[in-house]
Amino acid sequence: MTANCILERITETKSTNDDLLARWRAGELIDPVARIAHKQTAGKGRAGRVWLASPEDSLCFSLAFPFKRTPSELSGLSLLVGLAVITGIAQACDLNEANLQTSGLRLKWPNDLLVNEGKLGGILIEGGQAKAGDPTWMIIGIGINLRNAEVFEANLDSGLTVSALTQLTKLAPDVEYLWLKLIDSLEHHLAEFDLQGFKPYQKCWMKWDAYRGQSVCISGAGKDPIYGTANGIDEAGALLLQQDNKTITIHAGDVSLRIQS
Ligand code: BTN
Repeated sequence: MTANCILERITETKSTNDDLLARWRAGELIDPVARIAHKQTAGKGRAGRVWLASPEDSLCFSLAFPFKRTPSELSGLSLLVGLAVITGIAQACDLNEANLQTSGLRLKWPNDLLVNEGKLGGILIEGGQAKAGDPTWMIIGIGINLRNAEVFEANLDSGLTVSALTQLTKLAPDVEYLWLKLIDSLEHHLAEFDLQGFKPYQKCWMKWDAYRGQSVCISGAGKDPIYGTANGIDEAGALLLQQDNKTITIHAGDVSLRIQS
C-alpha cells in the first residue's frame, strides 16, 4: 500500500513538521517519511500560528516528500494536498465523491478543509532545496479536527454512515487505517504532481471550492486587505479575485481568505 514511504508513529513530540525539517536540514532524508504523533506539544499552524490539538480530538502527521521540481515549480502544491486528503478520506470511508460533496466537505483556498464552514483540517507546507540539483524536500503537515468529523458524519446520507469518519477516527485501529489511506493518496498525488504540475487538477479543485462566487477578503503577508469576489483558480492554483471589471491573481504565501460579511 505505501510502497516507498517510511512510517513512524510516536507518542509525543513538539511538532512532526519540525522533526522532519530538522532531519532534512541535517541531510538525513533519503526516502519519503510519514511521521504521526499521538500528541504535539508545540504544533505549528500557518502564518506563525499555534496548532492546538488534543490527542483524542485530532490526527496530526507530516509527510516529507522529495520532488524533482524546483521550489518555484511547486505552485498549487497546497491545493493538490487538499484534493489528496479528500481522496484519502473517500477511500477510508468507502464513499464516492458525490457522497462527500453532499456531506458538506469543501476546500477553502489555499489549504483548509471545511465541513459546513467548520474547519475539518489544515495544511502547513515547509521545506525547500538545499542546493541546485538536489531534490526539493517538502514537509507536508496535516492536522485533522476529529470533532468536526462528527459534524461531517451527521451530514452524510443515513445509509452511508456505516464506515463514516467519526467511527474510523475514534477507534485507534481505524485512525491508523485513515492515516494509511491518506498517506497512500498523498504519495500517489504527489508523484503525479511532480510529473505534471497542478494544471491537470485545476478543474477538480474547483468542484470542491467552498467560496466560489462569494465576496471575500484576502489579508496577511503584512499588506492591506484586498476585497473582491472569489472566481475560482488559475492553472497554477492562484486565486482569481474579481474586482469591478478586472480580475486579479492572488498567490498563496501567507495570506488568509475570509468571507466578507
Ligand atoms: C493550519 O494552520 O491550518 C495548518 C495546521 C497544520 C497542523 C499540522 S499537525 C501536524 C503538523 N505538525 C505541525 O506542527 N503542524 C502540522
